[in-house]
Amino acid sequence: MPRKILVTSALPYANGSIHLGHLVEYIQTDIWARFQKMRGNTCFYCCADDTHGTPIMLRAEKEGITPEQLIDRTWHEHKRDFDGFHIDFDNYYSTNTPETRHYADTIYTRLKQAGLIEIRSIEQFYDPVKEMFLPDRFIKGECPKCHAKDQYGDNCEACGAAYQPTDLIEPYSAVSGAKPVRKESDHHFFKLSDPRCADFLKQWTADPAHVQAEAANKLGEWLQAGLSDWDISRDAPYFGFEIPGDDGKPTGKYYYVWLDAPIGYMGSFQNLCDKTGLDFNEFWKPDSDAELYHFIGKDILYFHALFWPAELAHAGFRTPTGVFCHGFLTVNGLKMSKSRGTFITAESYLNHLNPEWLRYYYAAKLNGSMEDIDLNLEDFAARVNSDLVGKYVNIASRCAGFISKRFSGKLGAVDMNATTEFSQAYADGAIANSYEERDFGRALREIMRLADVANQYIAERKPWEMAKQEGREAELLEVCSTAMTQFRDLTLYLKPVLPKLAEQVEAFLNIPPLTWTDIWTPLPAGHAINEYQHLMTRIDPKKIEIMVEENKQSLAPVPEVAAPAPIKHAEHQQSEAKAEAAASDEKSMWEPFISIDDFTKVDLRIARIANAEHVEGADKLLKLTLDLGGETRTVFAGIKAAYAPETLIGRLTVMVANLAPRKMKFGMSEGMVCAASDERGGPFLLSPDSGAQPGMRIK
Ligand code: MSP
Ligand code: ZN
Repeated sequence: MPRKILVTSALPYANGSIHLGHLVEYIQTDIWARFQKMRGNTCFYCCADDTHGTPIMLRAEKEGITPEQLIDRTWHEHKRDFDGFHIDFDNYYSTNTPETRHYADTIYTRLKQAGLIEIRSIEQFYDPVKEMFLPDRFIKGECPKCHAKDQYGDNCEACGAAYQPTDLIEPYSAVSGAKPVRKESDHHFFKLSDPRCADFLKQWTADPAHVQAEAANKLGEWLQAGLSDWDISRDAPYFGFEIPGDDGKPTGKYYYVWLDAPIGYMGSFQNLCDKTGLDFNEFWKPDSDAELYHFIGKDILYFHALFWPAELAHAGFRTPTGVFCHGFLTVNGLKMSKSRGTFITAESYLNHLNPEWLRYYYAAKLNGSMEDIDLNLEDFAARVNSDLVGKYVNIASRCAGFISKRFSGKLGAVDMNATTEFSQAYADGAIANSYEERDFGRALREIMRLADVANQYIAERKPWEMAKQEGREAELLEVCSTAMTQFRDLTLYLKPVLPKLAEQVEAFLNIPPLTWTDIWTPLPAGHAINEYQHLMTRIDPKKIEIMVEENKQSLAPVPEVAAPAPIKHAEHQQSEAKAEAAASDEKSMWEPFISIDDFTKVDLRIARIANAEHVEGADKLLKLTLDLGGETRTVFAGIKAAYAPETLIGRLTVMVANLAPRKMKFGMSEGMVCAASDERGGPFLLSPDSGAQPGMRIK
């Protein structure tokens, strides 16, 4: 029996571009959905733009357009980028639609009927000039702890302190600059603290089918700490859906963007149903036999594994079969960065590189866990070139020519002895299981092992030698035909990852679209294939360099609403903040910031250079004896090219006094001196101002 599956990716915010970080998720989900379809399952992949909230409202205002115009433009950009990466949504919709409004109202009303909505008055900061309540990220002021100026309302970037916006000294509105006033207003809360919710969630999250073990741990901690009621309304002006009143009268309150965002999954699916005649309820009724999976990043786990199932369960809908959570993308081991040129947009990638290269690389790195994944640009080129071009495509390019030239394109019988490894792999099911479990890395390792087997077969049989010898035609045809079936099998296995390449191969092999069971039958003798055309080029590392250069941005002043992602104590608050801030992950080359505590770990001291001498056999080092005001240290410093030792004796400098001693070839080095350098010159040793004494701490 084919399974019925509905799968989603998180809905990207409608005020930012798709970047390579997002694509970790969309490529991953797409591979999984394509795999399910190839297996013969009924699978729908739905997504949409997440269009509501304050940042989108303010952004549109700044651009002098309506929010509707902004989200419409962004929708087309997002769709273009997703198409470019072959993300094959069955429906790509928007949350600002009648379908999503309908389900938001349905869920809200049912929760209210269940007694799970409560209205409470709360006091918040209000911008009297702009006449709007201010989300935390739109309030700035002086940090109550370290007194750094211009800090955000939720935490201080200078000292890392977390606090309430009401704790800020001299707060001001980041929107108008006005001094905010405190104002009361009624808010609608989803009563997560109700024992019905807590009990349900404890049970739901404990089922290992619903969430990964790592996620279950996190959720357990949150549940242990106790859930607070969730504020799901915002006051006008707000871009979103107005909450209906009892009597159908307007309430002047709007659903908070995170309330209707996941409901957008339903809205998108409803829209698909309307277009195709599918039955919505079959997928969303409580006892549905369809499966529902959400792919998400770890920053939005709280919403998808707590708020969302609790809402659904108490509003008479089915809950997710599973929430699949993944980690974050780093590039060359670091957070994506605009100044380093590694904050790469989908658009700019597509201007320079083949989307299937990235699909392959991400797949190779994904293993179904919540670990972060690293795009190492050097490794990316090396991996794709060696696996895809060197191993996989190579099989076809070595053998196909003989079939066209010598056998007018017609295949012969397959050497069944040469296909045992392939049949075993299929029988073992490792590749299918790995795909199913989202361990794409394991699937690709197994596929590349089979590619090695095929290449080895060709290398052993040497068709190019057969081609030069009389009377070996039959052998030549058999080897090349066998290689073509092996190549077909590899293509089949790679198809969820490389759908366009697979299409080209299907055209070349003159076969209908591959499905999983095709593996049972080798390409038949007598089948005519087309002439081989080059399938994939190698990555030219220069193109990567050009792309990185193009994405480099100098450190421009940060626009007020485009706030850097805050460092917060609770992850869900972080993603709430993200919803409130502009959709941009990175602003500054100085990130990740360190806290004052991180800084004070480094014990910097004034040191007097008591002695400096050359070191026998070392071309870069000088041996320094440093006086710390009572204690002396030996330090080997790589400054020989810049300083003659005798000129250093007696001068003051700065040393790291608590660096772990390190044994070097020439002796023990007990610290480090600090010096400045870059391409303009150096190293230049630091000197303190006059008055500083050996042993003084630098802080
Ligand atoms: N709009 C919300 C999701 C609402 S879902 C009902 C949102 N949007 S987002 O644009 O910020 O992120 C969309 C998805 O992309 C999220 O799952 C997020 O975790 C993922 N990623 C965004 N940046 C990412 C990386 N740098 N790395 C990996 N995934 C990332 O959150
Ligand atoms: Zn501070």
